[in-house]
Amino acid sequence: MRTSIGVGLIGMGVVGSGVARLIIEGSSTLRNQVGLPLNLNKVAVRDSRKQRSFPIGKNILGEEPEKLIKDDSVQIIVELMGGEHPALEFILGAVKNGKHVVTANKEVISKHGAEIFSLARENNVRVLFEASVGGGVPIISPLMRDLVANDVKSIKAIINGTTNYILTRMANEQVNYESVLSEAQTLGYAESDPTNDVEGIDAAYKLSILSTLAFRSSIKNTDIFTEGITNLTDKDFQYAEELGYSIKLLAIATRMESRVLGRVHPAMIPSGQMLAKVDDVLNAVEIETDLVDKVLFHGPGAGSLPTSSAVVADIVNIARTIAGGTDLLDPVRLTETVEVVSIDTLSTKYYFRLEAVDQPGVLARIATVFGDCGISISSFIQKGLGDKSTDAELVIMTHKANESSVTEAVSRLRKLDVVKMIGNVIRVVE
Ligand code: NAP
Ligand code: HSE
Repeated sequence: MRTSIGVGLIGMGVVGSGVARLIIEGSSTLRNQVGLPLNLNKVAVRDSRKQRSFPIGKNILGEEPEKLIKDDSVQIIVELMGGEHPALEFILGAVKNGKHVVTANKEVISKHGAEIFSLARENNVRVLFEASVGGGVPIISPLMRDLVANDVKSIKAIINGTTNYILTRMANEQVNYESVLSEAQTLGYAESDPTNDVEGIDAAYKLSILSTLAFRSSIKNTDIFTEGITNLTDKDFQYAEELGYSIKLLAIATRMESRVLGRVHPAMIPSGQMLAKVDDVLNAVEIETDLVDKVLFHGPGAGSLPTSSAVVADIVNIARTIAGGTDLLDPVRLTETVEVVSIDTLSTKYYFRLEAVDQPGVLARIATVFGDCGISISSFIQKGLGDKSTDAELVIMTHKANESSVTEAVSRLRKLDVVKMIGNVIRVVE
């Protein structure tokens, strides 16, 4: 008869250290919740000599995840090393060895979820990944379980803590981009390569996971249109404020019958909206469905303890099933087929910021480009660029226009000799 449940941890960085702490320091609570003791039996890291923020016994620490995933004393493998390879191979290996898996790895789940879920079902084990989206905010489990009777119409979310932290500081304090990114790294929010955060890749992984669960069809990160925050400047934040908007990196997936459009990009949203008030490392996911209308999940989207909270919840969930001896069935069932459509099908309002020669006739030539592309201008601001400059800065807000028309307009504007530069084009989400 089983007297305890063994956990094997791969990776003991920001999140792994938090998980080790919660398992060891919270052992009596966890035992009461699971019904059996939950023991951290093995840990694998890259460099076992490194100092850890939560030190653990040398007898359980090693550098061989390959051995850990075969270890008989371990029933649940917790993968917290991150990256695609070899994390994917460790997860698949663990499943083939009959181990349950908990992971926070959005890259692996986004790219290989369908294969992992089906292998887990064949091997009658579970793979849970609550911490892969939203850090400490429960969102995967509600989508898989509590909203299962609903047809999801749309997802609108702020799901990258690092960029939300950067954008909040840039909007409120005009701080330098590099220094605020480095703060986010020190606080443990950023990925090991922060390019994934600032280029929107991390948010695209997460949106693909949410869309897959919401629309019950495999949607990969490469199906999601992705644009990061690196083109935003302090001028965009100043104009956004003047016009009554906030700038956020939004992740949006919309279903229109059997078609889905997924997109991650900076967006101007009216500053009175709830999502506009989600600041710092906080995440928020708004799900709109046929039955509940709109529900909002909101909370800390990154960091050691919030993320560990989600990882440990998954461990307890699996451990309870093992302790209870009940059947295990992976609840992820991708039973529908949807067609992923291109960003060119989008119709929304747009913000244009450009610099042009300040001379008679220039505005007319710019307005002609918009008119020729079928884009209607809704408002317009012109400002000088300093006393001696012969150029002016123009901010043009449009009525709803097609993305493909906007792409065409940008290309034509670039060719106008009177347009010195296109500072930015930002989609408006209302
Ligand atoms: P991290 O601080 O960089 O830690 C990574 C850990 O993995 C380190 O302990 C490292 O060992 C170990 N490792 C790397 N390669 C290894 C290998 N080949 N074999 C064995 N161990 C290896 O990363 P993290 O921030 O904790 O993130 C872990 C996962 O959680 C990632 O998938 C991330 O996307 C996800 N996540 C993170 C957050 C967050 O707020 N940080 C939130 C949600 C999800 P050494 O320590 O010896 O170098
Ligand atoms: N780098 C990620 C973020 C961690 O900033 O949101 C949480 O997934």
